[in-house]
Amino acid sequence: MLDQWKIKCLVPDLPSAEDVLPFLRRMDNERWYSNFGPLVREFEAGMCHFIGAMSPRPVETLTTVTFSSATTALEILLRVSDLPAKARILTPALTFSATAGAIRLTGHQPVFSDVDPATWDLTPALARAAAEQTKIDAVMPVAIYGYPLDMAAWAAFQAETGIPVFVDAAAALGNQEVHPDIPVCFSLHATKPFGVGEGGLLVTGQRDLAERARRLTNFAFVDGTSREVGTNAKMAEAMAAYGLSQLIRFTDVQERRKTVLRHYISAFGLERFHPATNRYIPGTLLLDTSGKALEVAAALEVAAIQVRKWYFPPLDEHAAYADADVLHSRDGARLPVIHDLKTRLIGLPFHAFLSEDDIQTVAKTCQNVLS
Ligand SMILES: Cc1ncc(COP(=O)(O)O)c(C=O)c1O
Repeated sequence: MLDQWKIKCLVPDLPSAEDVLPFLRRMDNERWYSNFGPLVREFEAGMCHFIGAMSPRPVETLTTVTFSSATTALEILLRVSDLPAKARILTPALTFSATAGAIRLTGHQPVFSDVDPATWDLTPALARAAAEQTKIDAVMPVAIYGYPLDMAAWAAFQAETGIPVFVDAAAALGNQEVHPDIPVCFSLHATKPFGVGEGGLLVTGQRDLAERARRLTNFAFVDGTSREVGTNAKMAEAMAAYGLSQLIRFTDVQERRKTVLRHYISAFGLERFHPATNRYIPGTLLLDTSGKALEVAAALEVAAIQVRKWYFPPLDEHAAYADADVLHSRDGARLPVIHDLKTRLIGLPFHAFLSEDDIQTVAKTCQNVLS
């Protein structure tokens, strides 16, 4: 099945066994495999430095906690944020299932918003309008396709409205800066730009919140008893070994992705991509087909080129969230921007192992439909 594609959509760019071996040897020597071992601690410090260096505030103001995935990071973040029971959390309907899943699994209610037509994100302006229209207890914007959110604007929204903001930046590691007042979660899944296999990060300036979140990853144990109901969402030392190794080679990973992106931009023109594609390397690359998404996807699949329809259908159409509240536009339309994007966007093959010829093949196949 896997080999049916001549050109695959996603191919992870992870460290080789040889790259990881020195870190695994350290694990062998220590015989320490989980429960906040030296590799996890070193990885957290390294990631804090790496992510903090992109942020306007000193790195020392931030704390980084590792998790078994971004999903468990989001769930635990919501648990430690002391929201009222059944809080109404505004989130875009255009996102991966885990965003709303974390809201539901922590007993809260997703309230689905439309997105901005220019950024494809839930913006502070949309959140302000939503808060005027309905009761909102918190907001969870998503750094869609790995393009970063405007953290200064979200910090201003939080300060002005008093509505707390939690960011799902699963695919945006390397692009998303962090504001100390707004907790951000990242994914380290193999298919993400900074892949380790499975893993997640929480980065925040709120040290107490970070330490409580860390305790919850380990059954909330304090002195051998559970202070509250915790779970097991820890990162294993072996995953941190991959992470430390990936941190060393991440500049090269990004260079390879940047080269592929450059070929795509010269084949299609910047106007076919998200407007921030000239400044950031996205996690996944969505082509704007001007309403021909289905035809372009069909032509690519006939040519054995794998595409993905990220993130369609939107979450309000998933059975799990069918009963969630959905905000309508002023003229009564249901998520009109997302429904327009559904006819336009298609996820192209985007990974470090695409050759210039592969990209030409993708472009020619698309252009047969687009022209
Ligand atoms: C927007 C978004 N949120 C959350 C997740 C979940 O990340 P993980 O697989 O690390 O749990 C993903 C993964 O694709 C995602 O794209």
